[in-house]
Amino acid sequence: MRILSGIQPTGPSYHIGNYLGAIRQWVDMQQEHELIVFIADLHAITVPQSPGFLSRATMEKTSELLALGIDPERTTLFVQSHIQEHAELAWILSTLTPVGELERMTQFKDKAKKHAQHINAGLLNYPVLQAADILLYKPEGVPIGKDQVQHLELSRTLARKFNNTYGETFLEPRAIVPKEGGKILSLQDPKKKMSKSDPADTQISLFDTEEQIKKKVKKAVTDMGSEITYSPSEKPGISNLLLLFSLFGNGSVKEAEEHFKNKGYAKLKKEVGDLLAEKLAPFRERKATFLKREVYVREILTRGAKQARFIASSTMQDVREKVGLLLP
Ligand code: ADP
Ligand code: TRP
Repeated sequence: MRILSGIQPTGPSYHIGNYLGAIRQWVDMQQEHELIVFIADLHAITVPQSPGFLSRATMEKTSELLALGIDPERTTLFVQSHIQEHAELAWILSTLTPVGELERMTQFKDKAKKHAQHINAGLLNYPVLQAADILLYKPEGVPIGKDQVQHLELSRTLARKFNNTYGETFLEPRAIVPKEGGKILSLQDPKKKMSKSDPADTQISLFDTEEQIKKKVKKAVTDMGSEITYSPSEKPGISNLLLLFSLFGNGSVKEAEEHFKNKGYAKLKKEVGDLLAEKLAPFRERKATFLKREVYVREILTRGAKQARFIASSTMQDVREKVGLLLP
């Protein structure tokens, strides 16, 4: 199967939500499937970015993905803006997209509220570019966290629409969302998802130090009562911690619940903090190594772009012909 996904280079560092919702699935899937992963830098500029920071962040996030286990020998890893066909296909797909549908997107509404001074057309068109990212490569599956499912639905709709209008061209990809971990919650407001753009104490970066991890878990907001039970609606904070214990400890949520039976909240936090500190330590060490090997990381991206371009240019040539653009 061909599997594709992307991730923006924004924010301080990837966090455990990004990992459990998306990146960990990629690392697993590259063993058996053809995996294509890219850094979505064109998506990142839909909110204000400083140019000097963006290029550095792209290199740093590439190092993070490598540290987390993306294997460049198995996986095509590249930077979105290196393949110009993404922007070109996005333009063509935008002519098939009703504006109303874009205005109804949850992420657009959230970001428009957050960046009220900068509601640009790119922010509105964000899901169209995402559809282009995906359809260009004709993947069968797209592993993503829950919050991206709505965008994937649009990609499917646009594939269908294009095929109906211009003839069979694109595959309708399906979203692959993990059964558990598709929505890890904020440590400070466990009604909201953990997000890179929120304050540092709400999220655990995959590259935090052991002290930072333990301190953040210790200060996590918990719920009324003292019993440790998994109940996302009644005990969102405790359930989030139990889920983390289960997903990083490789046991089921039921087993985690059993393990903490008759123990207090403090004990739960202590054990979750210790477990995360232990499991994340190797990532931090590996990232430091990749950050020192800039030439090597660059080479990986060059090779990745070459492989990606091979597929993207062939799809795009077909699209230009089908749409009726005069070929040069
Ligand atoms: P963020 O919202 O933190 O900036 P992104 O939008 O860059 O994260 O998301 C990158 C990937 O991580 C996407 O596939 C997204 O669905 C997934 N993801 C983001 N936040 C979470 C979360 N809290 N829980 C699970 N998956 C998440
Ligand atoms: N919008 C996605 C996010 O914020 C990133 C992304 C861009 C993506 N293009 C994609 C994810 C294509 C999957 C497929 O996480």
